[in-house]
Amino acid sequence: MSTVVSHPELQRWINEIFDHCEAKEVYLCDGSQEQFEELAEKLVAAGTLVRLNEERRPNSYWAHSDPRDVARVESKTYICSERQEDAGPTNNWRSPLEMKATLTDLYKGSMRGRTMYVIPFSMGPLGSEFSIIGVEITDSAYVVLNMMYMTEVGRTVLERLGDDGNFVKCLHSVGAPIDDEESEDVPWPCNPENTYIAHFPETEEIWSFGSGYGGNALLGKKCLALRIATAVARREGWLAEHMLILKLTDPSGRVHYVAGAFPSACGKTNLAMLVPTLKGWKAETIGDDIAWMRFGSDGRLYAVNPEKGFFGVAPGTSSKSNPVAMETIKHSTIFTNTALTEDLDVWWEGIEQEPGKLTDWQGKPWDPSVGSPAAHPNARFTVPASNSPTIAPEWQDPNGVPISAIMFGGRRSSLVPLVTESFSFDHGVFMGATMASETTAAAEGKVGKLRRDPFAMLPFCGYHMADYFAHWLAMGESGDDSKLPKIFLVNWFRRDADGRFLWPGYGENSRVLKWMIERVEGKVDALSTPLGLVPKPEDLDLEGLNLEPERLTQLFDVNESELIEEVVSIEEHFNSFGPKLPKRLWDHLERLRSTIRNN
Ligand code: GDP
Ligand code: PGA
Ligand code: MN
Ligand code: MN
Repeated sequence: MSTVVSHPELQRWINEIFDHCEAKEVYLCDGSQEQFEELAEKLVAAGTLVRLNEERRPNSYWAHSDPRDVARVESKTYICSERQEDAGPTNNWRSPLEMKATLTDLYKGSMRGRTMYVIPFSMGPLGSEFSIIGVEITDSAYVVLNMMYMTEVGRTVLERLGDDGNFVKCLHSVGAPIDDEESEDVPWPCNPENTYIAHFPETEEIWSFGSGYGGNALLGKKCLALRIATAVARREGWLAEHMLILKLTDPSGRVHYVAGAFPSACGKTNLAMLVPTLKGWKAETIGDDIAWMRFGSDGRLYAVNPEKGFFGVAPGTSSKSNPVAMETIKHSTIFTNTALTEDLDVWWEGIEQEPGKLTDWQGKPWDPSVGSPAAHPNARFTVPASNSPTIAPEWQDPNGVPISAIMFGGRRSSLVPLVTESFSFDHGVFMGATMASETTAAAEGKVGKLRRDPFAMLPFCGYHMADYFAHWLAMGESGDDSKLPKIFLVNWFRRDADGRFLWPGYGENSRVLKWMIERVEGKVDALSTPLGLVPKPEDLDLEGLNLEPERLTQLFDVNESELIEEVVSIEEHFNSFGPKLPKRLWDHLERLRSTIRNN
């Protein structure tokens, strides 16, 4: 095979994979528009993509996946550290030797008949102290297009890498060789029986096999920027988090940046694109899914968004719930598993337009009388962040933005109040470590089941979760107390007895953000409760909302028997980590338990 790059180790690896996977040819991705169009055309010809109506949705495409390949597969995701105890009880584990043996067999000839794409990419602005370079080798052109929207790809990255720079090796194959040159390829090749998403944190490698779905196949995102990055961050003393980053400007022009961790499909993208309903407030987006954070020389915690695009949930997105997203995806967007309209535009449940005659996400004529949705609940859009009308000018600042407040949140139909501030940074770590959420369609498995999802990182932490808690505590200790972000637990998803959401959410969440900022600025007091500090009724700005007082009460009501159940459940959760669980977290649980006893 001819030389494609000047970096000797990268070239050696390319040769090795090319020979082992028996690819037809090598294609070096340079990040150019010409290549994007060439690959898009190829995918249209293969039936993977449908080009959307050029007038209604310029430069956009629709894909629908194999129905067995629609979400992240946590049961097939592995952290392959040398020692099992380093992966911890929340991760699947195999020894690197064993996993590499299994996968080496599977990769043998797995790219037969296919082009092997080499994608040099950067997570984080090139040249930033924060950034990490990766190279993904994949046999999926769909992956290339999505990576081009989600990350910095191509020549600029290779230049930065030089001839001896470090990069994370990210290997991906859909695991569906074309053995017979004559036979036609399927539109969405994948191999669900043999899917593995394997991470080697010690050697900083990712081996993904069998799936073409975003979170399993776009290896810069969940695999590198979270699972591998958490392990690197622990060694180097920073944080890799499943967080949105939002810029807020108050009516007097003062700016604050806030970050927020919510499990998948629990509102990060929406909050990152929030349109405040409060007069005079302005919100802009820095990032919608991942934050890398480290202390700056001034002692404040700085965050960058390592991504360059959004991979957002389509269903539920409308000009009412998220007008910014609707504006962002007007052009240059790849839609996956939405429905397709007759005039070649996209449709999903919750969008305002009437459905008309549709092709459903499985590519079949949609029959509404059957009762199944036209779009898959985890249908996604992939779009460059630069499309967004509210992207903040500093969103790619190599130094990041200083964080004033951190939110943790999830779907809790009961118990957890609309907003609670932690008593201290440590107590905030307790809030993160104990958060729980009802499961969503973003991952395989049952929807609506309550599970502990610490820091919204359950599927993304690349090492022992109790060590991760300890790392958070240590970060708090190494920081200057007066400059640490304040920590809040929020819940937009509490329901009334009829199952309706108590809080209107979306743009109205700005009311909660305002209170947080006022707390950060020391402008208002708070009321102490067993779970933390809550707003005094007069301090939560509800003007013009028409929220019945009864509903407001319910939003903050903490039912004692539910609280007792919660304490028992947290104890079980903590016990699952064994002796590694930091004592300080046990102390917070004991304090909570004692408040119940004293009542
Ligand atoms: P992400 O996956 O964490 O980025 O979550 P998204 O922002 O994409 O939202 C996932 C789902 O939650 C969508 O169906 C949204 O419509 C819904 N959602 C987001 N924010 C809110 C909110 O404030 N209240 C309610 N009730 N639903 C929300
Ligand atoms: P999400 O991102 O958090 O926006 O859903 C994708 C995922 O977590 O799978
Ligand atoms: Mn996510
Ligand atoms: Mn999102």
